[in-house]
Amino acid sequence: MQAGNAVITGAWARGRETRSHRNGARAIFSGMETRIVKMRPRHLPDASRFIAEVLGERRNVTTSDLKEYLDWDDDEVLLLVAETADGTFAGVAGVVYESWNDTGMIEWIGLVEGLRGRSIGTSMLNQMIDWTRENGGRKIYVDTGVDSEKAIAFYSRNGFSREAVLKDWYHDGGDAVLMSRRIREAATA
Ligand SMILES: CC(C)(COP(=O)(O)OP(=O)(O)OC[C@H]1O[C@@H](n2cnc3c(N)ncnc32)[C@H](O)[C@@H]1OP(=O)(O)O)[C@@H](O)C(=O)NCCC(=O)NCCS
Repeated sequence: MQAGNAVITGAWARGRETRSHRNGARAIFSGMETRIVKMRPRHLPDASRFIAEVLGERRNVTTSDLKEYLDWDDDEVLLLVAETADGTFAGVAGVVYESWNDTGMIEWIGLVEGLRGRSIGTSMLNQMIDWTRENGGRKIYVDTGVDSEKAIAFYSRNGFSREAVLKDWYHDGGDAVLMSRRIREAATA
């Protein structure tokens, strides 16, 4: 499947609002230009370090782990990177498609501190939702720390609801909240 092609690559953006269009969404914000692209080998070291150090996920995110993801098919995983005009890494997002139950599982989403709150995260999230839906997905899931108020607010603002609390979910013993959003109408019997 070529669903990954729907991702906007190379769409430079400026402005303050968020616009949507048929092939996804793009962030338009003032100040530094940023674009969202599919992850490439050149992004691997920065993305790996960011996921481990900023998002606190230290397992299975070495450069070679992420490189394995890049070898997956376009309908199995979508890996996005935000970068500034000069190619500086600005953030990462990733979603895996679970074909056994037609759902997407968001693995990570995060931006460097100075570029938060400018709709870039929403654009990445929308691209992951569109990709999951185009694959045939019914729902999309994400887990985040029960105390991660800002992240929970971000997902709630984007149509996610709390679905469950996962006790002792993280390797450090922390609890998670599992949030989901339905992205296609339920099949009727
Ligand atoms: C969560 C995150 C990906 C959201 O992306 P973003 O581009 O900052 O968010 P957007 O600008 O698209 O949306 C703004 C909304 O996100 C939420 N938000 C979460 N963290 C925020 C932050 N640091 N700054 C501003 N908004 C934030 C708010 O609900 C905000 O809504 P509001 O403007 O009504 O207050 C980003 O802030 C981030 O990288 N945070 C740190 C890592 C993290 O928590 N990742 C998710 C958990 S795994």
